Amino acid sequence: MDKYELRAIIMSGSLMAIFLTALLFNLYARKIDVPQCVAYDGTIKNPSVVKIKDNYYQAFITAQMWAFAPYDMTFPKGSLVDFYLTSKDVVHGFNIQRKGINLMALPGALNKVSVQFNETGEYRIVCHEYCGAGHQNMMSSINITEK
Ligand code: CUA
Repeated sequence: MDKYELRAIIMSGSLMAIFLTALLFNLYARKIDVPQCVAYDGTIKNPSVVKIKDNYYQAFITAQMWAFAPYDMTFPKGSLVDFYLTSKDVVHGFNIQRKGINLMALPGALNKVSVQFNETGEYRIVCHEYCGAGHQNMMSSINITEK
């Protein structure tokens, strides 16, 4: 085997190892939840937040030009929230700042992500998929309060 060929194999192998390590680090050490696509046959009729039990909520969110519903959400510190997301028109984005959540709102599909909020404060939600003239104003927020 040519020595340059061997170097190329070692370098690409190392790069793959770095990518895999970064993926596993985010998954286990930073506990980033990978979004799921949920089987679904309809739209979210009533965008709402449902309290399942103490510190566990389900949020059913719709995105449409150019707003999210429900608009603002408040949860107590320590809450785990399942976000179910769909779109009423075009593709929108759903990015929760400081949480590493990057979800797409797709018409006709339901995406789910679970997020644990252990610190108080405001987490802004922005649409990060270009969706038309009002895209830059499409945002919302989550407030985490002391219990
Ligand atoms: Cu919705 Cu950009």
